[in-house]
Order: sequence, then C-alpha cells, then structure tokens
Amino acid sequence: MIDFKALAKEYKTPLYVYDFDYMTQQFEELKEAFRGRKSIIAYAVKANSNLSVVQHFAKMGSGADCVSIGEVRRALLAGVPKYKIIFSGVGKTDDEIKEAIEKDILYVNVESEAELGRVELMAKELGKVSRISIRVNPNIDPKTHPYIATGLHDNKFGVAIDTAKRMYIMAKNSAHLDPVGIHFHIGSQLTELEPIREAAEIVADLVRSLNVLDIELKFFDIGGGLGIKYKDEQAIKPYDYAQAILGTLTALDMTIICEPGRFLTANAGYFLTKVLYEKQNGAKKFVVVDGAMNDLLRPSLYNAYHKVEAITENDGECREVDIVGPVCESGDFFAKNYKLPPLEHNDLLVIKSAGAYGFGMGSNYNTRGRSAEVAVQNGEARVIRKRESFEGLIALEQEFLEK
Ligand SMILES: Cc1ncc(COP(=O)(O)O)c(C=O)c1O
Repeated sequence: MIDFKALAKEYKTPLYVYDFDYMTQQFEELKEAFRGRKSIIAYAVKANSNLSVVQHFAKMGSGADCVSIGEVRRALLAGVPKYKIIFSGVGKTDDEIKEAIEKDILYVNVESEAELGRVELMAKELGKVSRISIRVNPNIDPKTHPYIATGLHDNKFGVAIDTAKRMYIMAKNSAHLDPVGIHFHIGSQLTELEPIREAAEIVADLVRSLNVLDIELKFFDIGGGLGIKYKDEQAIKPYDYAQAILGTLTALDMTIICEPGRFLTANAGYFLTKVLYEKQNGAKKFVVVDGAMNDLLRPSLYNAYHKVEAITENDGECREVDIVGPVCESGDFFAKNYKLPPLEHNDLLVIKSAGAYGFGMGSNYNTRGRSAEVAVQNGEARVIRKRESFEGLIALEQEFLEK
C-alpha cells in the first residue's frame, strides 16, 4: 500500500505518483500472453514519457512506439535498443524522417502516400535505405470514445487497404525503401475483442495478398489500445487478446509487435491534490483543489472518468460535489456530481488511473508549473521529475524583456 499522505507531505501537491511494481506486473502479464511467439512489446511512449518510466520498461526488454523525433530521442536515452524503436504519426517533418533514418531505428511507420514519397526522398538524399511499415486503416468501429477512435475512414490515421497495396508495390520497387512491416491501431481504451480480431483478420489477409506479389513482411504490428478499468469496464485479458490475434495469423510466420500505453501505466498512476476550499453556488457544491486541468486534462478533454479517494478525518455523510481546479475555465474539473464526505482545507484527494495521458498532456496554462513526479518501487519513493519552477517557466522569454 502506498502511503499517499506521507508522499504528499514530503513532496507537496499537486503530485504524480507511479507504482513501478504495478507497471512491471502489467508488462510481464502481456509478455507472458505472447510467449512462444516472436514478439516485441513496444511501449507507447506518449502514454507516459518520463525517462525513468521508459527506462523501467526498457530494462524489461521493451521496445518503444514513438510519435515524434523527441520521443525517439527519449527512447534511445532511456536505453531502448534502436532495433526496437518504431516511429509513427501522420505528420512527420523531413528533418524528423531524416533523423529517424540516420538513427537506424526498426522502421518508420508511414501513414500516407505523400509521406512515403518524402521518406524515399530523405533516404535517397542520405544515400540510405529506410525500413518502413504502412499503417493500414481497416475501417473498423472500435466501440470507444470518438476522440480515441482511429481506425475508421473518417479518422486521419493510416491508409485504406487498396492504397496500402499500391504503396507496398511502390516501396518494393524503390532502391531506398525496404517494406518490412504492417501496422494497424483502431483506437484506444478498447474493451471489446471482436473489433480487434476483425481488424487483424483484414490486415492478415492483406499480408497474404502481398505475399503473392512477392512482398514478404516480417512484422505484424497490432498497435496499442488495450483498455483498462477506470470505473466498471470489463478489461480484455492479455491472454484472450493474444489468442485472438494469433488466430488470424495462420500460416504467417511474422514477429508480432504490440504497442500498449495505457495498459502498462494508467492504473499505476495517482494524481494527488489537496483541498483548498469548499464552496456552494446555489444548489451546487464545489470542492476547489490545488491541481487543475493543466496537470490532468483527461476529464476536461474527454469527459473522462477517474475514481477519486478522499483522505480525511471527516466521516460525515457523502454529498455530491464537483471537484474543480483553480484554472480560469469552466471546463477545469476532475469530476462532476461525485460523492465525497465533507472536506477540510488540506485534506487529500487521490485521483486514480492517472498514469497514462496524465502528466504528458499537461501544460503551463495560467503560468502554472507542472507537478513533480515520484516513482514508488519496492516500498521506496524517488523523484523522477522535479516540480517546475517559475524561473523555469519564463526562462525562454526572459532575455526578450525590454530593459
Ligand atoms: C499508433 C498507436 N499505438 C499505440 C497507442 C497507445 O494506445 P494505448 O495507450 O491506448 O495503448 C496509440 C495511442 O494513441 C497509437 O496511436
């Protein structure tokens, strides 16, 4: 059990706390599910890109799924081997593509015909061959929040099957491209297996039709998206997930790559925030806390649900409250109509499932420094990112101040 009160006292609030032992458990469970098959777990760095978190997974043999050259650099710095790094994203710049090719990562995951042309050109300019995969959009409804659905034709990600086929043929005929993989990712927080299986089936069929054209791919990249329990969702079991995918790969001897983010880190993370005041506006009761949407954006952005636990001496009857932060936006809330006991100044709220898309989506809006991050492992706590200072926030502007 993590002593949140002691951590809040020592490191102050708002504060992110990550349970590294839980991350280990999740990683091991997923690895076990694919045991006996050639597979790479490529941690989706965007979920929680703290160097120590990426390093933690790298030590367990993880690869990295990156969506910017910054993330590629982070992964390398954290010790992820270059041959386990994938670079995805719909909008890569020429400089990013060049650097990825020069760093000799596993492959660049291409998301459009236009991008394939740029990758070829960049490789040509460098006198190199770029390994690529193509992100296919299988047009499957993942049955998740529309903001995190990515595998439908009206989403910006990937290319349709026919386009992908054309692109593989073009890549095979290019002296500067080496098509080695195929990729799909239909969405995040997936709690139903059938859409994933259907998508894998469609993509595996495409691989078979490419084989006929003498295009042999080595990597079958199933993306990320495994859902977790925020409230009362039924999460997919890693074993069932692996079996569903493997069932679509008959007669295909490929290395499976999966790119979990949330599954590995979300429920390892806690966001600690202190109560400043309670206030009543008409019929509405608010609990105002010291954390805000700039620290944890998911409730404001997706209306996402996070469980909240109050640590208080009060044992009064629970009432429905909105938990809100100090930022000047009505959208600055962590929960609405949430049942909590009466709270005093300095009582602690623990916001759960905050280890993925939490700190990383943070900002300095309202000139608020971002929280510190603390890792807990084997009962020991250590700071893995310091709290941002005011001086740090203005450092890039200060020299331009008129004297
Ligand atoms: C291509 C790709 N892979 C992996 C992920 C990680 O998703 P999740 O955190 O839901 O596992 C994402 C999330 O957006 C993604 O777009």
